[in-house]
Amino acid sequence: MHLRRKLVAGNWKMNGSLGQLAEVSAIAEAARATGGVDVAVCPPFTLLAPALTRAGGITIGAQDCHAAASGPHTGCVSVPMLKEAGARLVICGHSERRADQHETDADVRAKAEAALGGGLVTIICVGESEAERAAGGHLARVEAQLAGSLPDDWEEGELVVAYEPIWAIGTGKVATAVDVAEMHAAIRAALVARYGDRGARVRILYGGSVKAENAAELFAVADVDGALVGGASLTAAQFVPIIEAAAAS
Ligand code: PGA
Repeated sequence: MHLRRKLVAGNWKMNGSLGQLAEVSAIAEAARATGGVDVAVCPPFTLLAPALTRAGGITIGAQDCHAAASGPHTGCVSVPMLKEAGARLVICGHSERRADQHETDADVRAKAEAALGGGLVTIICVGESEAERAAGGHLARVEAQLAGSLPDDWEEGELVVAYEPIWAIGTGKVATAVDVAEMHAAIRAALVARYGDRGARVRILYGGSVKAENAAELFAVADVDGALVGGASLTAAQFVPIIEAAAAS
């Protein structure tokens, strides 16, 4: 029995349409057949409720939430709204939102507090830029993001960290197993320092150009408890082999 059950989460970003929900059905069917792994798909907000009708056993999640429950925040979606639509998981602080929507660590923490307070599984994303890694500052950068973005209070199993080096997202460049091992060990150490034994049970996902071809190698690295997958989560043909690799690891 592993200490932490693996989680493979697909982040559809601003992709997908009603016509592509057959992929969710196919992913769910394969996930059921494979077993042993938690699987989630995070489509755009507009597809949450319809995706749920295809989800049979897998988790449907959102890609962002607002920290408040309601109010004058045009265009935003709250945790109670996500739950009503059937979401059981949310991604907070993805690097694309940190860059495009200027989300700070404090913003991400406030969102994560709302999500965890509402009982959603909450994936908090961290990761360094290429320049930060080149300068040798990658560990310090991620440790600072963890300190600033992670809440104090959460229920067992609901807090998840995703390490996503920005330079590996959507680029086809994957961090080496050695780099991933170094970072995941540092994240684990930070989690245990802050939360004690509970920190040892927080799942740490790797994200950034995860594909069928590299998934098994990544899942073999210590403290890699699953993956956050962008491009390769859009079709069952690409996503299912990643789920199978997680199950086999
Ligand atoms: P990618 O995206 O798999 O397309 O690199 C990962 C992510 O942004 O979560």
